[in-house]
Amino acid sequence: MKRVALLISGGGSNMETLVRDMTGDHPARPVLVVSNVPGAGGLAKSQALGIKTAVVDHKPFKGDRAGFEGALQDVLEQARPDIICLAGFMRILTERFVSQWEGRILNIHPSLLPKYKGLNTHARAIDAGDREAGCSVHQVTADLDDGPVLGQARVPVLPNDTPDSLAARVLAQEHLLYPAVLRRFASGDTTPVRLPAPKG
Ligand code: GRF
Repeated sequence: MKRVALLISGGGSNMETLVRDMTGDHPARPVLVVSNVPGAGGLAKSQALGIKTAVVDHKPFKGDRAGFEGALQDVLEQARPDIICLAGFMRILTERFVSQWEGRILNIHPSLLPKYKGLNTHARAIDAGDREAGCSVHQVTADLDDGPVLGQARVPVLPNDTPDSLAARVLAQEHLLYPAVLRRFASGDTTPVRLPAPKG
């Protein structure tokens, strides 16, 4: 049974979806939820789900990224995760940290990578006149939003979409994609997940 730690910064809807999926014959179980933001909504959700939580506030480490990551590493090592899922985690992780977990750390990004790495993905897709948008789950490497893609979900961009309406449509797909990818990844299968599933 694989042990999964989940990192959040906010509401944790992706974390919650992943935790709720890790039951029965799922090859993994959640062992810890860590937030870099004290009082993040996802912490209460985790506690309601009976998952151990921790907070590593990045603010006291202002400008000391290595110090923050060292504290994060200590908390993670105690939980002995086999897999780390970044789920709405909004800190950039350095090569030093990632190298200790490379190959075992996933992230969900709200764009069809390699398009729109970084922030404001939905506004950028709309401004570019894209007819399609979506989300990607990828392995985390030292380069931001750049690792091997393990799954993608596509949604239409509608003529009157705003960044918020597109974000809501994509988020619904994130909640389908990430659990599907984690199930495969935890069973050792890195065949990419494609949603909607190809016909036939
Ligand atoms: C989502 O848009 C996700 O793509 C990004 O963070 C946002 C919030 O996610 N990574 P959550 O509700 O905190 O899981």
